[in-house]
Amino acid sequence: MDRTTLGPLSVSSLSLGAMLFGTTTEEATSHRLLDGFVAEGGNFIDTSNNYAFWPANGRSGASEELLGRWLKDRGRRDDLVIATKTGALPSRPGAGLEDIQGLGKETIIRDIEDSLRRLGTDYVDLYYAHIDDRTTPLEETLAGFDAVVRSGKVRAIACSNHTVWRIERARQLSRQLGFPEYVGLQQHFSYFRPRPDSDLKRNATMGLRGGWGTEGGLRGQHLDYIRFNPEFRVIAYSPLLRGAYHHPEKMGAEIRTEDNARRRVALDAVAAELGATAGQVVLAWMMCSTPAIIPLMAVSNQEQLAENLGAAALKLTPEQMHRLDTAA
Ligand SMILES: NC(=O)c1ccc[n+]([C@@H]2O[C@H](COP(=O)([O-])OP(=O)(O)OC[C@H]3O[C@@H](n4cnc5c(N)ncnc54)[C@H](OP(=O)(O)O)[C@@H]3O)[C@@H](O)[C@H]2O)c1
Repeated sequence: MDRTTLGPLSVSSLSLGAMLFGTTTEEATSHRLLDGFVAEGGNFIDTSNNYAFWPANGRSGASEELLGRWLKDRGRRDDLVIATKTGALPSRPGAGLEDIQGLGKETIIRDIEDSLRRLGTDYVDLYYAHIDDRTTPLEETLAGFDAVVRSGKVRAIACSNHTVWRIERARQLSRQLGFPEYVGLQQHFSYFRPRPDSDLKRNATMGLRGGWGTEGGLRGQHLDYIRFNPEFRVIAYSPLLRGAYHHPEKMGAEIRTEDNARRRVALDAVAAELGATAGQVVLAWMMCSTPAIIPLMAVSNQEQLAENLGAAALKLTPEQMHRLDTAA
């Protein structure tokens, strides 16, 4: 698998999400999926301190702990790029996203210690602000990230679920204050485009109250921003819409649009030309975009892993990219 640059890190062009490892996906299967990903050249693995508190029998920290056991068994920690997140940990047992800890300086400094302990490592490669916390001054949040980078516990920082103006303000502040800058954005993004009003509904469904934002997905303004700031990379989470390309019954109302019906036709045509699946074309379309987007996918079995990894070898022609980009 190709490698690509993310700030100071060299990461595989596809990233594997470990969100449900240790909860929905049981231990032995999770280890085998991680092994399979690395065997095919993957090195970029994503988790968070709050994965996964929401499924039945779920618990914050379970994913990090599972990764810690896998890392211990496997060794060679330095070959891997481990990303985790802070900011969206529920404040008390039983709480959800309506009551999260946010991005205060002391929270960030405490959270990294807890994540390192669960992961059984003395550094994290990439540390994300999981949400946008508008109740804490940005200077304070950035000072927290500065402290964990300076202490050597974190190699690089990034943000997730942020609007463009907040990203740019944070990056400018970091430059002014001599702090490390966010090197990328992890945002919801796929080939199908959600209805324009779906972000607000999504925030409401997740129980987020004022001051916190998941801010929906990657939008035209983000794409415009990265075209002119190509060093700032995008990591696209849920690129396969949790299986909706494979199982249309999984398509939510926000993507059941005429626009996406036309996109499906373009996707299926390119997939047929390449002898690939629609899901593989979605992943390849991101990796072949300019600037390239890093898909952050997840799998629950080996067949899904093999299929998704196959996307890394697909090269879409400029004509195929144009057809996919303009289908609407
Ligand atoms: N920053 C954030 O706020 C945020 C939010 C969400 C996720 N994330 C990160 O993004 C990662 C990926 O998120 P996601 O799970 O939503 O991603 P996704 O790749 O869109 O969905 C993964 C699910 O899609 C199905 N799938 C994947 N490959 C398939 C295939 N080849 N054939 C058929 N079905 C397939 C599987 O569902 P089944 O298991 O049902 O078969 C799999 O569990 C997470 O692990 C997490 O690290 C970040």
